[in-house]
Amino acid sequence: MADDRHDTIESLLVEGRTYPPSAEFVAGARVTDRAMLEAADADPEGFWAGQAAELLTWFEPWHTVCEWDLPFATWFVGGKLNVSYNCLDRHVEAGAGDKVAYHWEGEPGDTRTITYAQLLDEVSRLANALKALGVEKGDRVNVYLGMVPELPMALLACARIGAVHSVVFGGFSADSLRDRINDAEAKVLITGDGAWRRGSVVPLKETADEALAECPTIEKVLVLQRTAHGVPMTEGRDVWWHDLVPAQSDDCPPEPMDAEDLLYLLYTSGTTAKPKGIMHTTGGYLTQVAFTHKYVFDLRPDDDVYWCAADVGWVTGHSYIVYGPLTNQTTSVMYEGSPDHPDKDRFWSIVAKYGVTILYLAPTAIRTFMKWGTEFPERHDMSSLRLLGSVGEPINPEAWVWYWEVIGGGRCPIVDTWWQTETGAIMLSPLPGLTTLKPGSATFPLPGIGADVVDTDGASVGVPGGGYLVLTRPWPSMLRGIWGDPERYRDTYWARFDGKYFAGDGVKRDDDGYFWLLGRVDDVMLVSGHNISTAEVEHALVGHHAVAEAAVVGKTDATSGQAVAAFVILKAGVEPSEALVGELRDHVGNAIGPIAKPKTILFTEDLPKTRSGKIMRRLLKDVSEDKALGDTTTLADPGVVESIKSRYLAQPGGDDE
Ligand code: WT7
Repeated sequence: MADDRHDTIESLLVEGRTYPPSAEFVAGARVTDRAMLEAADADPEGFWAGQAAELLTWFEPWHTVCEWDLPFATWFVGGKLNVSYNCLDRHVEAGAGDKVAYHWEGEPGDTRTITYAQLLDEVSRLANALKALGVEKGDRVNVYLGMVPELPMALLACARIGAVHSVVFGGFSADSLRDRINDAEAKVLITGDGAWRRGSVVPLKETADEALAECPTIEKVLVLQRTAHGVPMTEGRDVWWHDLVPAQSDDCPPEPMDAEDLLYLLYTSGTTAKPKGIMHTTGGYLTQVAFTHKYVFDLRPDDDVYWCAADVGWVTGHSYIVYGPLTNQTTSVMYEGSPDHPDKDRFWSIVAKYGVTILYLAPTAIRTFMKWGTEFPERHDMSSLRLLGSVGEPINPEAWVWYWEVIGGGRCPIVDTWWQTETGAIMLSPLPGLTTLKPGSATFPLPGIGADVVDTDGASVGVPGGGYLVLTRPWPSMLRGIWGDPERYRDTYWARFDGKYFAGDGVKRDDDGYFWLLGRVDDVMLVSGHNISTAEVEHALVGHHAVAEAAVVGKTDATSGQAVAAFVILKAGVEPSEALVGELRDHVGNAIGPIAKPKTILFTEDLPKTRSGKIMRRLLKDVSEDKALGDTTTLADPGVVESIKSRYLAQPGGDDE
């Protein structure tokens, strides 16, 4: 990295440095004062009703804004609308048919530009094709595809006819797919022959066939051709997309849906045991995703080119690649493949090529880019960018500052957005024209959201203070339950603290009331009677100049109850050594206290992560305790954990140092 850039980053990392919105950004921003926050606080239901009316087109009005029978909420009761109508038809009717909905780029370099009119046309044909396959209102349709335009089309076609989609990420195993199809009792599967990833074919159809051997409810399989590598088709069950869909009529009237009709199921990623089918419904969900997409990203639909580089197989993709952006008539970029194909500058070449103005990434991606070095972004002109977002886990200040400086050129606000599959939409985030940023903090609850920090007894801890993050009132895009298991819904989210939704996350508020997320509370270690969060130790480790990424777990220890075990990825060019182990232990000791010093540090090339980028600490825990590995089927790369395991066991003295 150029020396002056290094110096800039070092100087930005000064503890306590804050980032108020620039005058230039404020001049064009949507929210620049507290009026909306105050109005929403005074009357949350009135606020959401106003947003629902302003942002969406309703076929019939609702009679009640919110009915709250804890823990079951309904929103916009009696209202009727159609999600695909809101995403497509109304824009075409308003004359925006020629506007680009997606600039799509395939990994091999092929591209497609899809306008709103074309998208409506394709979605209508696909919706008619689903009907021809026997899909009716309320039926579940599973979707198992790569990041191709047909993936958003599949979601919208289901929404058009009132079918419920359940997307399974294209990197999941046959077992994961089978379990999710069976739990949802899906009738039809939409998949493809394959997907492109890092220059090779992900064999979707072969994996789907393996799953389907044990999926009695599936009647038909619609197969998109993408990789054309030749896949077996089962007579009577499997139908090629290109044989069925183009032959359909492009006229498919959108089904009027009740505001509370089920829109989709999405199974939460596998950091826990049995996946939960999270239920999202129609009117409230679309209201809040449209609202947050417009205000958190400070959207200017006429000028912005927006890119959320998540996968549609994850809730981020549902809400912020498909439903939010299309409802707001946005022009989006969608990319099929991996960020290092053909080279490590692929993302930045896409930013430059399409003139991306808003970029939304996960911290794990940002840290990977950091590890690769600044030469890759420096190859491209990224001056089109004006706003950056982060989602998925706490962003460590080093990554934040790197994102700010190297990607954002020191001029783009960063919105660190906290939310969950269960919340459906962003809950805590800066409003970029109003909020003074602090690197690593998701700042404050958005308008209309009630959030608090409580202690183990559920009492509010006040400011400053630390404890459990809870949500104190229902919100429009909240999950309506867990598919087929209302008791588990109550027990998981509403039983811990009376009358409050417990998000599972630990949080601290500083003197100014800023929220600092600390990770899942089940990621807390008890070392010699002290609670130490894995996230805190990880933050300390990545604060050292040699460290690119770190994962920490508590391992059973005869003397201290639990001991801190760290797994560390070093930055490019840094050599692992015993001296460095000592230095890192001292570094953590200085940052947090001697009690938090890792007992063992293993240098590794990679960490076990879910496809959505979350480190699977329970697997590292299995490694550190030399236990048989638990379920690894949701790992992005199952080989990683085996290789860490063999190296961990070979490590000298680790155990009884
Ligand atoms: C969990 C939810 C939200 C879509 C992607 C993940 C963590 C998410 C942040 C953030 C700190 C975050 C939390 C949360 N998380 N965003 N900005 N700062 N932590 O969805 O798989 O349902 O995971 O991700 O721990 O509970 P998910």
